[in-house]
Amino acid sequence: MDKPFYVHRFRYHFSITKLLFWSLLFLSLIYFFFYHPPSSSDSSRRRLWGGADWEYRVLHSARPRSRAGGRVVLVTGAAGFIGTHVSAALRRRGDGVVGLDNFNDYYDTSLKRGRASLLERAGVFVVEGDINDSLLLKKLFGLVKFSHVMHLAAQAGVRYAMKNPSSYVNSNVAGFVNVLEVCKFANPQPAIIWASSSSVYGLNTKIPFSEKDRTDQPSSLYAATKKAGEEIAHTYNHIYGLSITGLRFFTVYGPWGRPDMAYFSFTRNILKRKNVVIFEGPDHSTVARDFTYIDDIVKGCLAALDTAKKSTGSGGKKRGPAQLRVFNLGNTTPEPVGKLVSTLERLLKVKAKKIVLPMPANGDVLFTHANVSLAQRELGYKPKTDLQAGLKKFVRWYLDYYSPSGKKSAV
Ligand SMILES: NC(=O)c1ccc[n+]([C@@H]2O[C@H](COP(=O)([O-])OP(=O)(O)OC[C@H]3O[C@@H](n4cnc5c(N)ncnc54)[C@H](O)[C@@H]3O)[C@@H](O)[C@H]2O)c1
Repeated sequence: MDKPFYVHRFRYHFSITKLLFWSLLFLSLIYFFFYHPPSSSDSSRRRLWGGADWEYRVLHSARPRSRAGGRVVLVTGAAGFIGTHVSAALRRRGDGVVGLDNFNDYYDTSLKRGRASLLERAGVFVVEGDINDSLLLKKLFGLVKFSHVMHLAAQAGVRYAMKNPSSYVNSNVAGFVNVLEVCKFANPQPAIIWASSSSVYGLNTKIPFSEKDRTDQPSSLYAATKKAGEEIAHTYNHIYGLSITGLRFFTVYGPWGRPDMAYFSFTRNILKRKNVVIFEGPDHSTVARDFTYIDDIVKGCLAALDTAKKSTGSGGKKRGPAQLRVFNLGNTTPEPVGKLVSTLERLLKVKAKKIVLPMPANGDVLFTHANVSLAQRELGYKPKTDLQAGLKKFVRWYLDYYSPSGKKSAV
């Protein structure tokens, strides 16, 4: 016998509810197990910005020191390695600088706090917040007419992408789009200079890497998100008239550097008499990097900012074609990782306990080598520091910072 109509309806609603329930449970489990952003200290739990004192500090930091009409720059990722050096250099020459960083715990947050304190003493206020927080960005743009945005905030590191892929999508793709969205509506629109990466060259084998080479074979998710950033930059330039310059940095090192990078962790391990693992390529081939000293990168960043043309849009509408550029910023001299270790041994006066292993398939590439002739021509970029001289400065900083009475060095 046929069931009454309301029984079917009841069953229908019941199964929809069940389906919804299980889908929600499934999505929550996926979210719970796969999405772990490096926690951004307390910023996700409580609002760390706003209020009269906070506004005063932003406005004070944004005021150019000398020239009327000086540059006013928002530096994202300002408590990061490169962001700190760039912010300090901009402030030293008199520009107005406001920093922004979420102080996430991808690596030792006390290092980020230490950098922010240095910047504070140099007259740069680092706002604690996330680039995905549109309200915060709108508030900052409401308070300050930024002439430039130096966008350096990102989830960095190649290997960590295998552990926490979502953090890359969150900061390097969604976060970048959020920054561009706010910039497109700003009046005037700022010019944007942002950090891409040499990793976009991926499996490219033509050396040295030139901006014209193919970048469609990324070998890590990190590289893929930076490549996505370059395409996103093209779109916002094309539709909204934003002036955008992408900088492909090659293995940057120096004082106040990143503890997750080889030169930093090798130094730590050599001093602690722990093993130093050196990877080699197929058939015992050497892994080499175009190590670039931070001061050279800072000069490249400032030159990119100084040569950036104005954005052409306003109120979210393009008014004419705008500048779109991409530059390699490297050192042009690839050095084997073995040489990095032997130089550190000499500087630290300690023999390393070396272990040589085949490079695992974790996204790292065997070789990087920058052709910087475009940056040389258009930015006057000319790297000056070789690996030996740069590591000497890094080691001096490291020994001072990690000495019991340390943590006082300047940038
Ligand atoms: N250091 C290198 O060798 C190198 C090479 C190529 C490209 N890059 C790029 O240069 C930029 C700076 O690199 P770095 O070495 O200084 O790295 P870093 O990790 O020291 O600095 C990045 C900073 O951004 C912040 N950040 C991350 N996600 C954020 C978010 N959602 N909101 C606000 N802040 C956020 C972090 O807390 C960190 O302080 C990055 O874009 C990186 O991908 C660096």
